[in-house]
Amino acid sequence: MHNIFSVGQILTEFGFKILNIITWEKTNPPPNFSCRYFTYSTEQIIWARKSEKVPHYFNYELMKQLNGDKQMKDVWKLPAIAPWEKSCTKHPTQKPLSVLTRLILASTKPNAWILDPFTGSSTTGIAANLANRRFLGIDQEEDFLKISKNRKLEIENIKMAAKYRQKIGGFNDKNQLELFLVQESFSEYQTELKLQN
Ligand SMILES: C[S@@+](CC[C@H](N)C(=O)[O-])C[C@H]1O[C@@H](n2cnc3c(N)ncnc32)[C@H](O)[C@@H]1O
Repeated sequence: MHNIFSVGQILTEFGFKILNIITWEKTNPPPNFSCRYFTYSTEQIIWARKSEKVPHYFNYELMKQLNGDKQMKDVWKLPAIAPWEKSCTKHPTQKPLSVLTRLILASTKPNAWILDPFTGSSTTGIAANLANRRFLGIDQEEDFLKISKNRKLEIENIKMAAKYRQKIGGFNDKNQLELFLVQESFSEYQTELKLQN
């Protein structure tokens, strides 16, 4: 449960540069039934780049917009997973789409390839595809890969995908994600045209 320290150490040993440790603070954590510890209400995310020299991408402006026009902090207050996200799944540690969508939009461009080698029910992949990114997932459990495929099939329905985009938390209103994705694709297209001419 507390393996974030070993992961951080291994990343440093392999030459990765740690950029931020993001704390996801669950606004509605489940209670601690043992009453012997503080309620577990946070999870940590290590944002790192492959080396000191490899540049990284950060969509500073979008993050600021999502935070009421103030710099986005490294503490994200977002709710734990909601029932509507579990339509196809019984994965015991499924993450919310809001957290993965924010991570993906902050650190990648449209069409980027995203790899999750511990994909579980593939929340990373669903968030990636809903945000027009490509995805590759790996898991040792075949049952979890079946869940992932069902989730993927679900969002191949355009209406379903649009509904999901409206429900993902962390945006100022229900159309903000859709609108941002349209603008993002348009500016990518313009950049490509400029490069071709
Ligand atoms: C925390 S869960 C991922 C949950 C996922 N983010 C989601 O939202 O559904 C970690 C996953 O890693 C898988 N896993 C653990 N060790 C693995 C290994 N050595 N190779 C591949 N998958 C592994 C487990 O089966 C589990 O589904």
